[in-house]
Amino acid sequence: MTTNDGKFREVSQQMALHGLQLEHLKMPYPELQTESLESTIIPGLLWLVSKFERPVMIDDSGLFVDALKGFPGVFSSHAFKTLGCEGMLCLLEGAEMRDARFECCIGYLAPGEDPFIAKGIAKGSISAEMRGRGGFGYDPIFVPEGRSKTYAEMEVDEKNEVSHRGIAIRKFVEEMPRLSEPGGQ
Ligand code: IMP
Repeated sequence: MTTNDGKFREVSQQMALHGLQLEHLKMPYPELQTESLESTIIPGLLWLVSKFERPVMIDDSGLFVDALKGFPGVFSSHAFKTLGCEGMLCLLEGAEMRDARFECCIGYLAPGEDPFIAKGIAKGSISAEMRGRGGFGYDPIFVPEGRSKTYAEMEVDEKNEVSHRGIAIRKFVEEMPRLSEPGGQ
């Protein structure tokens, strides 16, 4: 579902709370660079199902910084590899407006079925400096709304309580037709 071990740890831990087990397919898939996470996911799901002929899940997420007009957004992965957290802090040097949000889309497709996507959004802000050693990606510079710790200062279950990914997974489990039917899975 993702080549990122951090994402898989968070998703599988939360899915396990609902009695669902995932297998980590570390297979990169062609990611179309589109204007939204949702429109990137469907071609990826179709590609993976046609290759593996089995149910697949994808996590596509990104950080959207208000003062940068939503950048890095759908370019979050590339911006992380090139600028990293340090570069993002430089872009915001001296900025008072540090509002940002993380978005996460969890997509699911089984052969012969329609795709299902659940989206989670976590509002927050970009910290003044990097804090914490946990997590991955932009975790050391993102403080979710109502908390003082960055994601990187939280344990996985604490991050899942408030994070974009945690919200998306809870929606996924509640709303996915097959899982929400009585006796479903
Ligand atoms: P993609 O979903 O693989 O396109 O990657 C999005 C990029 O956003 C990743 O490379 C991470 O750097 C970043 N990202 C996504 N989710 C998180 C998160 O929960 N914490 C920190 N960074 C994240």
